[in-house]
Amino acid sequence: MSAQLDSNGRLKHFLSIDGLNPSILTEILDTAESFNALPEQSVKKVPLLRGKTIVNLFFEASTRTRTTFELAAKRLSADVLNINIEASATAKGETLLDTLRTIEAMHIDMFIIRHARSGAAHFIAKHVLPHVSVINAGDGRHAHPTQAMLDMFTIRRHKPEFGGLCVAIIGDILHSRVARSQIQALNMLGIGEVRIIGPKTLIPAEHQTMGVQVYHKLEEGIKDADVVIMLRLQKERMQGAMLPSEGEYFRLYGLTEEKLQAAKDDAIVMHPGPINRGVEMDSQVADGSRSVILQQVSHGIAIRMAVMSMAMQQASHAESN
Ligand code: NCD
Repeated sequence: MSAQLDSNGRLKHFLSIDGLNPSILTEILDTAESFNALPEQSVKKVPLLRGKTIVNLFFEASTRTRTTFELAAKRLSADVLNINIEASATAKGETLLDTLRTIEAMHIDMFIIRHARSGAAHFIAKHVLPHVSVINAGDGRHAHPTQAMLDMFTIRRHKPEFGGLCVAIIGDILHSRVARSQIQALNMLGIGEVRIIGPKTLIPAEHQTMGVQVYHKLEEGIKDADVVIMLRLQKERMQGAMLPSEGEYFRLYGLTEEKLQAAKDDAIVMHPGPINRGVEMDSQVADGSRSVILQQVSHGIAIRMAVMSMAMQQASHAESN
């Protein structure tokens, strides 16, 4: 695994939660707090990354993740390039390393990588020039660390005392890089209890080593939960019949106001998006008073600003040594 921290313990790459430590995670959350109020000001920019060039290298479709990375970079005054690789040279047969070298020759400072293959961001981090930072924006079913951190930020803003909280994550845990990163971050930040809920076919075999309690019945799993996180069914990552039908899935695991009664009265409902309405949850819950789904999107900008500025701070520190 490529090292994410430099020899002084500063963030250099951000590839997975695994391999980091509670103080770095807290630093990310605290730094994001300072960026979160920026949109309320008439000038929504700070000059922290002026003169830096950031490349969004996306090998997989994305709307909210790509646009929030782009906005975050722009609000830090960096120059941003968006490269959608499906419509680009790799499709003509160029290897990943050739693509990387070509873009590096344009003097860039940071890659934001999304790729359908697990381990792609680590691979790229291993091969970039020493001054370049790599941020993982989702690789296969492995990790999606900025999503996990924006979720931690959202939880902390509503419920700051992590030690006493019960968080329930519902749905397709098996194929979810979001769930894997969330579980690692929750445990690293000392959350009281993490539960995963889903049909047996969508619970990973290695659940015993993940620091979670497993439930197969939604109502039992969300009983007295403080935070309820719904996941999208990752149909593009499923092979064969892992589910009876979407209707049946909704009946068993779809969140409705009625089922949500089992959670605490002040529980918040989250979803990384995109939502399949009527599959993971109905519209009443998605648009209801306990839903913080749109706040998650806004927080994504502050978290991505925090991660990018921390990784570049490390670079300027290395330059001045
Ligand atoms: C997630 C992803 O792409 O991993 N979405 C996101 O980044 N907002 C979750 C998903 O696709 O279901």
